[in-house]
Amino acid sequence: MSAFSDGPIGIAGGGRLGQALGRLLREKGEPIAAVACRRLERARAAAAFVGAGVAASTYNELPRHACRVLLTVPDDAITEVAATLAADGLKGIALHTSGTLPLAALEPLVRSGVACGSLHPLQTVPSPAHGVAALPGSWFAVSGDPPAAAWARRIVDLIGGHPFEISEESRPLYHAGAVMACNFFAALLDAGVGLFGQAGLGREQALAALTPLVSTGVANALRLGPEQALTGPYARGDVRSARAHWAALATAPAPLRELYRAAARYTIDLARRRGLDECKAFEIERLLNGSSEQ
Ligand SMILES: NC(=O)c1ccc[n+]([C@@H]2O[C@H](COP(=O)([O-])OP(=O)(O)OC[C@H]3O[C@@H](n4cnc5c(N)ncnc54)[C@H](OP(=O)(O)O)[C@@H]3O)[C@@H](O)[C@H]2O)c1
Repeated sequence: MSAFSDGPIGIAGGGRLGQALGRLLREKGEPIAAVACRRLERARAAAAFVGAGVAASTYNELPRHACRVLLTVPDDAITEVAATLAADGLKGIALHTSGTLPLAALEPLVRSGVACGSLHPLQTVPSPAHGVAALPGSWFAVSGDPPAAAWARRIVDLIGGHPFEISEESRPLYHAGAVMACNFFAALLDAGVGLFGQAGLGREQALAALTPLVSTGVANALRLGPEQALTGPYARGDVRSARAHWAALATAPAPLRELYRAAARYTIDLARRRGLDECKAFEIERLLNGSSEQ
């Protein structure tokens, strides 16, 4: 057990994730002492969300409030904030919450003798309130020096999550996978809604109409696995439908056509794994390789 394992906690970065984690930990009785942002005004609002009596701070004052710090700043700012915390005398434990970056992102703190680690929630947090609702029950990648990894696991346990480990060198691949499965899904949905728009449906109506279809599709893909859940023209090898889609996209913006083409090629391979007729797969691939105007 580390000398710092029950010490006061500081949140460096009072954004979406920082506020959500702060509130959840505070509700479990953890000693959240302060929330820091670049601007004190933002830190005050974030501290108020986390709970009564939580102080608002700047990054350089945070080491006076806390000996355990969660760095919830944007990935590109982690090393700079770690340098500020190290320069201002942080002792104890620090965790960053990036999925991609290695522990080396905390290098200034490592050099100061702070036990460093990471805690990456495999969850999407579009607002603090969404995070409070969604983080319990989520999976969290944990790693670090023994005291840091122990703190990360304790946080997961308190929140009611599931911890798992990813090797340092695999983090970018792991995070790319999470981004493809979740963030790109939002982008694909937007592209679909855009095509509905061109077909005459308003955005709200399109989202409402797609909700049962997409919800069932996602639930099936998660339950049965993507291969078994796949339906539609590519699963069946409907060349005529694929040709009609590709021709209809002739006037669509180039990024949308490229997105459709890349997703369609990947989907054909998924369909092959479940037995798509090779002649049909070949014919669809050939038409996708040509211009959509032919
Ligand atoms: N949101 C998610 O879905 C999610 C999920 C998993 C992991 N994460 C990880 O959590 C971390 C934070 O993400 P977030 O989405 O919570 O970010 P966010 O909502 O944008 O919040 C970032 C916080 O950092 C501060 N900040 C912004 N730019 C800064 C800079 N250049 N230097 C220092 N501070 C800066 C912001 O406040 P001020 O501008 O006032 O300083 C804000 O308090 C990231 O490492 C991200 O990878 C996020």
